Amino acid sequence: MAHRSHTPLQVGDAPMPTAAPGEIVVNNSAVAINPLDCHMQDIGVFVRKFPAIFGCEVAGIVYEVGSDIQDFKKGDRVIGHTINLVSGRPQDGAFALYTVIPASKAAILPDTISFTEGVVVPFALEAAVCALSVKEPGLAMPGVPTPGLGLPYPSLQTAISTGKILVVYGGSAATGLMVTQVTTAAGIQVISIAGAHNFDISKRCGAVQVFDHKDSSLVKKVVEAVQSSELEFKGIFDAISSPGTYAQDLAILANFGGGHLACTHPPPTEAPENVKAGMIFAVNDVATPVWEEYVTPASESGKFQCLPPPTVVGKGLEHIQEALKRSKAGVSATKIVVEL
Ligand SMILES: NC(=O)c1ccc[n+]([C@@H]2O[C@H](COP(=O)([O-])OP(=O)(O)OC[C@H]3O[C@@H](n4cnc5c(N)ncnc54)[C@H](OP(=O)(O)O)[C@@H]3O)[C@@H](O)[C@H]2O)c1
Repeated sequence: MAHRSHTPLQVGDAPMPTAAPGEIVVNNSAVAINPLDCHMQDIGVFVRKFPAIFGCEVAGIVYEVGSDIQDFKKGDRVIGHTINLVSGRPQDGAFALYTVIPASKAAILPDTISFTEGVVVPFALEAAVCALSVKEPGLAMPGVPTPGLGLPYPSLQTAISTGKILVVYGGSAATGLMVTQVTTAAGIQVISIAGAHNFDISKRCGAVQVFDHKDSSLVKKVVEAVQSSELEFKGIFDAISSPGTYAQDLAILANFGGGHLACTHPPPTEAPENVKAGMIFAVNDVATPVWEEYVTPASESGKFQCLPPPTVVGKGLEHIQEALKRSKAGVSATKIVVEL
């Protein structure tokens, strides 16, 4: 737990959580680290009060279910997305032995998938569905809309082409890989932009073409690839969302008279009017049908892959501070994970 911002996490006692209606309590077997956890520790962003328990995703065994829960029972293996960002409650943070998860943000993890593999999914999945399937933009934060691409959900069947194409900038980032998978499974083609060493994993997630983000002709190559697809260009999901990637995004979009720009951080202020830019907010109920109907059967059939692969840095809560440090140093097509 964190007692204040900018100080190392400490392992300590916390009250044992209980499951209210609509909730499950998970006995965590693995937790994953996200860049946001580092921001929460460093500058206290999204922290309502200290002491706080951070962490956005868990994999483990259901310990208790709320009185109305039908879809889960004690002993089930699950993955789940925490809501500590919006609730501020310590019992909703992942970096603990037991965490409360809304049942609508959890799914059964097939026996063939380990907890350390499965735990990379929840946060990126909900971020991806928020980026793609929100129809009417809400607010990610005051004055910043969410993107409203209105794209369909992923399908368990072989996806029928929607005739659309999306560019994913940061195609090897955890969110970029997930957007690529979910978009492809919804029948939308993906052109990905990633590091040259990560073309294969991006293609494994469904990208039809991948371009190197360091290529000096990147904009020209991406524009030509979109044009030659003869599909309807929907826009760009930018997992990186930095000034450098925004400049490239806007240059690409300018060739198509604008389009959607879904960002992981506040969008560029200099975007022209024909660019519909918004920032995702990953705790988003738009993902509920995907949690309830897609994740488990698609994982069982192999249609949905738990990617990027985890890098396990230790076993026990005492390893989480080191894991945060590793994540902050930067990762490439992996997620830092701690076993519990
Ligand atoms: N708003 C929200 O709700 C929300 C939700 C989730 C995440 N986020 C934010 O989204 C960002 C991404 O998170 P994440 O977990 O997906 O990241 P991540 O997996 O930690 O990102 C690492 C990847 O970034 C890639 N990368 C770095 N610079 C790049 C560039 N200039 N062009 C293309 N790729 C580049 C690297 O690619 P190579 O190794 O291939 O070069 C690496 O694979 C973070 O800032 C996070 O805080 C926001």
